[in-house]
Amino acid sequence: MDQSFVTEAAKAFQEKFGSLEGAYAYFAPGRVNLIGEHTDYNGGHVFPCALTIGTYAVAKKRKDRKLRFYSTNLSRIGVVETSLDDLKPLHDDSWTAYPKGVIWAFEGRGMKLDSGLDMVVCGNIPNGSGLSSSASLEVLTGFILRDLFGFTVTNQDLALIGQYSENNYNGMNCGIMDQFASAMGKKDHAIFLDCATLNYQYAPVVLNGMKLVVTNTNKKHKLVGSAYNDRRRECETATKLLHDACGINTLGDLSNEEFEKNKSVLTDPVIRKRARHAVYENNRTLEAVEALKKGDLETFGKLMNESHVSLRDDFEVSCPELDVLAEEAWKVPGVLGSRMTGAGFGGCTVSIVKDEAIEDFKATVGDAYRRTVGYDCTFYIVSIGDGPEKLTISEEEEKS
Ligand code: GLA
Repeated sequence: MDQSFVTEAAKAFQEKFGSLEGAYAYFAPGRVNLIGEHTDYNGGHVFPCALTIGTYAVAKKRKDRKLRFYSTNLSRIGVVETSLDDLKPLHDDSWTAYPKGVIWAFEGRGMKLDSGLDMVVCGNIPNGSGLSSSASLEVLTGFILRDLFGFTVTNQDLALIGQYSENNYNGMNCGIMDQFASAMGKKDHAIFLDCATLNYQYAPVVLNGMKLVVTNTNKKHKLVGSAYNDRRRECETATKLLHDACGINTLGDLSNEEFEKNKSVLTDPVIRKRARHAVYENNRTLEAVEALKKGDLETFGKLMNESHVSLRDDFEVSCPELDVLAEEAWKVPGVLGSRMTGAGFGGCTVSIVKDEAIEDFKATVGDAYRRTVGYDCTFYIVSIGDGPEKLTISEEEEKS
């Protein structure tokens, strides 16, 4: 938790919206997924963890029905103002569509706001990095609404509402992983989530003498209207065909052997590759979690590498920038595993690196990246944090 972001948000709140009396501060985390990619919307398993970086906000109820938003990260956009009576799904592509979508989704579930609100946001998740800045903003907004308006919703509901709003207000057909990881995060634990049932377990991530390193390609990825929604459709096609062949309802229902036995019904080679990724990745995730439970990080790392290869070759959601990062990382002694994380097409890789290898890792991967891509990647040594929180605005901040 970084109190300086509360200070920054509180200061901006006073400048843009006036008194902090009745205002509160909040935080919701971003996430990194360790393994289980593009499995969530296929009824499979994922293994993400919440990060200690995320999105902060200072928010306060209003007396009228206005909604006012300001982001210190996107100050050039200025204050965005609307009203509770003017929320239109699929009509907004600014950052404020995320909080607005969540408010709209709450109202749609009968949780009507009796007034508008003012909200200042600031955060330390690099934009477009694939570390779920949007999911964290959605969970943050839901958490704020629950606190300010007294709605009865669980953190798991906040994840589902966030996903619903992203699907229906923002037109991005995402699965549940990102919002769930943000809403349900637990310090030093990854979340082993069965996306078919939402049953989950926390698994301690004990990295004795190692670190989780996230490497940002600094290539912006645009998800809406991109290949993400196409991949979902391709998986749906495969599911229908396999349902007719062997009765499954999701690709997550299949073992690798069952897939191999039935794959001949997938005559389109692209559809077959997509399904193979979803099936194998799900089973890889089950294996990886078992390995982690036994403290076998070598196996966990190998499965991460296999995950990258499958995302690159079968699911085709990697890109040259991500491939350089992963493939160079594999060559560095002391790197247990490295793979792209999140939706792909840009964003970040996640690697498990021995402490003594970190400098070598940064130098080797960083140089190769600059040489082949032409600009720098960025390294973050990340820590696994808790879910959303209410924070205090100090008296000094209130007076300043
Ligand atoms: C994005 C989506 C998630 C998930 C990942 C890929 O982050 O929001 O629901 O599908 O891509 O694993």
